[in-house]
Amino acid sequence: MGRIVAVTNLKGGIGKTTTVVNLSAGMALKGARVLLIDVDAQGNLAMALGLRPRRTLYEVLVDGARIADCITPARPNLDLLAADESLLSAQPTIARRPDWPRVLEQAIRPVRSSYDFIVIDCGGSLTVLNLNALHAASDIVVPTTVEPFSLKGLEMLIAQVARVKGGTGSLRAIVPTLFDPRTRQSVELLDQLRASYGALVSPPIRVNVRLSESSAAGRSIYEYDPRSRGAIDYAILVERLCELWGFQGPGAHPGEAPAFPPQEATAPVQPAVPAAPPPPRAAPVVAGSGSVLSTTCPNCGGTLQRATVAGYRVAYCDHCRYRRQELVSGIRR
Ligand SMILES: Nc1ncnc2c1ncn2[C@@H]1O[C@H](COP(=O)(O)OP(=O)(O)OP(=O)(O)O)[C@@H](O)[C@H]1O
Ligand SMILES: [Mg+2]
Repeated sequence: MGRIVAVTNLKGGIGKTTTVVNLSAGMALKGARVLLIDVDAQGNLAMALGLRPRRTLYEVLVDGARIADCITPARPNLDLLAADESLLSAQPTIARRPDWPRVLEQAIRPVRSSYDFIVIDCGGSLTVLNLNALHAASDIVVPTTVEPFSLKGLEMLIAQVARVKGGTGSLRAIVPTLFDPRTRQSVELLDQLRASYGALVSPPIRVNVRLSESSAAGRSIYEYDPRSRGAIDYAILVERLCELWGFQGPGAHPGEAPAFPPQEATAPVQPAVPAAPPPPRAAPVVAGSGSVLSTTCPNCGGTLQRATVAGYRVAYCDHCRYRRQELVSGIRR
């Protein structure tokens, strides 16, 4: 049974969709079979992947269409159940049903075993569908910007998770986004976040204009600029979460097709109408088995973590902000 991962925060515009796209695309490149589900009527996920799907989640939830018929192949190993503004009118209909908190969970059930991860992109408010996503989730990932109001919002979200799930055990990661290491406030608030939530806090995603450009271009950051800071930061997150979830690449699932080089998606269910020219084949971005080799950070003496990204080895420290990027054939920076 695949994990159902809700990516959520009550605040809008803090990098939820960016995290969903680049976490999922990275896991797909690593060999995981991933289904993305958009429960936000803005429909940003399809745009961020450069797709204009003909069928959407509305048809599954309201018209009773088969979920498999409404899924759009997005990339090798990566499928999408898209949303659009029709989802706004679905919410009152769903809210009238006696089983309303479990409508999404029931809808996902027929395809759950076809995927390693089903990743749900939530909207930025407490809608019926966001509550459904929390109910369905086996794992919850919370992106948050590193600002005073965001940290307050995070407390509220965690209280909400505790109410819906009867505890916070399904909370897997808090992902600091739009992190600017040049500002003292960002650095201090990140330290504060780590002091409050410890190992739940993942290495931060730095501000990087290439990330917003890649969304606008309908591409993942690995397709758009695999050597950017954004690609490296998201690849580290992929590595971290795959390790946490015990996904070590396709070798861990005997009998599956290898992920590298990327395979064409099999059994297209609903042809996509591309809004942008098809992206070039991406080189493997996240490689390796997910194992973390330990050496010592030259800055603070902490343990240095490693990930292999787009032909680079990245070494990074969780305690200070040290990062080093090495080309396999030599040190780049
Ligand atoms: N690390 C980053 N550096 C630079 N820009 C970023 C970064 N992360 C996200 N962005 C940009 O910030 C904007 C908001 O991001 P995104 O759409 O992912 O947020 P969201 O939380 O999903 O928003 P909403 O609540 O509206 O769904 C987008 O334009 C995105 O490209
Ligand atoms: Mg969004």
